[in-house]
Amino acid sequence: MELRLAEVFDSLRNAKAVSAEPLCAYVYDLEGLRRHAERVTASLPEGYELFYAVKANSDEPILRTLAPLVKGFEVSSGGELAWVRAHFPDTPVIFSGPGKLDSELDGALEHRVECVHVESQHELRRLATLAERRGMVQGVLLRINLAVENLSETSLMMGGKPTPFGIPDQQLEECLALLQGQAGIRLQGFHFHLLSHQLDAHAHLQLVAAYLAQVSAWCRKYGLDIGQVNVGGGIGINYRQPDRQFDWTAFCAGLATLPERHSLPGVAIRFELGRHLAASCGYYVMEVIDIKRSFGKTFLVGRGGTHHFRTPHAQGHSHPFHILPFEEWAYPFPRPQACGEQVSVVGQLCTPKDLLAFDKTIESARCGDLVVFPYAGAYAWHISHHDFLRHPHPARWYLPVEERTGIGPDA
Ligand SMILES: Cc1ncc(COP(=O)(O)O)c(C=O)c1O
Repeated sequence: MELRLAEVFDSLRNAKAVSAEPLCAYVYDLEGLRRHAERVTASLPEGYELFYAVKANSDEPILRTLAPLVKGFEVSSGGELAWVRAHFPDTPVIFSGPGKLDSELDGALEHRVECVHVESQHELRRLATLAERRGMVQGVLLRINLAVENLSETSLMMGGKPTPFGIPDQQLEECLALLQGQAGIRLQGFHFHLLSHQLDAHAHLQLVAAYLAQVSAWCRKYGLDIGQVNVGGGIGINYRQPDRQFDWTAFCAGLATLPERHSLPGVAIRFELGRHLAASCGYYVMEVIDIKRSFGKTFLVGRGGTHHFRTPHAQGHSHPFHILPFEEWAYPFPRPQACGEQVSVVGQLCTPKDLLAFDKTIESARCGDLVVFPYAGAYAWHISHHDFLRHPHPARWYLPVEERTGIGPDA
């Protein structure tokens, strides 16, 4: 997960040179995204497939960069489905998410969604009725909330305990019985997404192994013939210790030799990753507009805030950042600065919750310098409350994918 800071900093220098106002921006590095996604897909062993969970970042240039590299897109609402289909009429799409409306299920049929991940028996019945009405047969995966022994928990659990997500494994038999009478539905397999923010490759491998062992036990017990198991997303980003990221290479090496894999010959194993694919291509940038000292603490006040970049508040972490210095200073009085001290980075909102980073020792920051937050490509702009206080939205731009010459290691 290589960050191309030099390229991002260059584009910020260019933008600041022509900006009349203090800068506030998202920069997305599409070339970095392409390289990262290529590495991720190239490491996957045979029989494993990768979908992109578009909820992480559904910007069209992001989708356009990923489309040729992934097997398809995972959507979680009618809005995401319509957006994806408007831009990518032929890309395979799978449809997850709780609380689907009839209109969304019908949209899935209309838009030829490859597979609907069904969340409840009620949803299954409604989908079957709609499919029959259209004279169609819709492929489904049952999303199962599975009790896993010795499940190592992360900070964001969607299953393995009481949650509104998926069908509890105790209800599987009932569900299979219900499926038997449904001409409009074909069971293609099972779906699991028990957690997000997984940083431990070994623990995640054990979780995938537990899914596969369970599915092959069900196939034997109920005489099922399935085509795929979707093992969800959930690979985390280590925001607290950015130099210690999830070891994707070791994880894939483990997948290649997973004994449980052999119990499901010919069954495709699917991932639908969001954060792991998109986080590292995005940067949120705030110009320092004030530096304040209050009760022994130093605050860098940046242009923007958590209404643009909610990720640190949503996850409760201090987000890593870089200071990009600028020499220009337009005023006749001394430039406020912080040197060799601990600072917190805050935004322009009238709430103490507008905190993006805290207790971080920096070498130097001055008013007019830029604070650059990496790992802001996923669940960042798209989960933020943009219009709180009616500050303007940040500028947003994309560093383009580089032309390939046909020569060299990347070609
Ligand atoms: C069903 C499902 N699949 C995939 C994802 C993507 O997860 P991540 O971004 O952690 O990879 C999510 C995220 O909430 C999800 O709910």
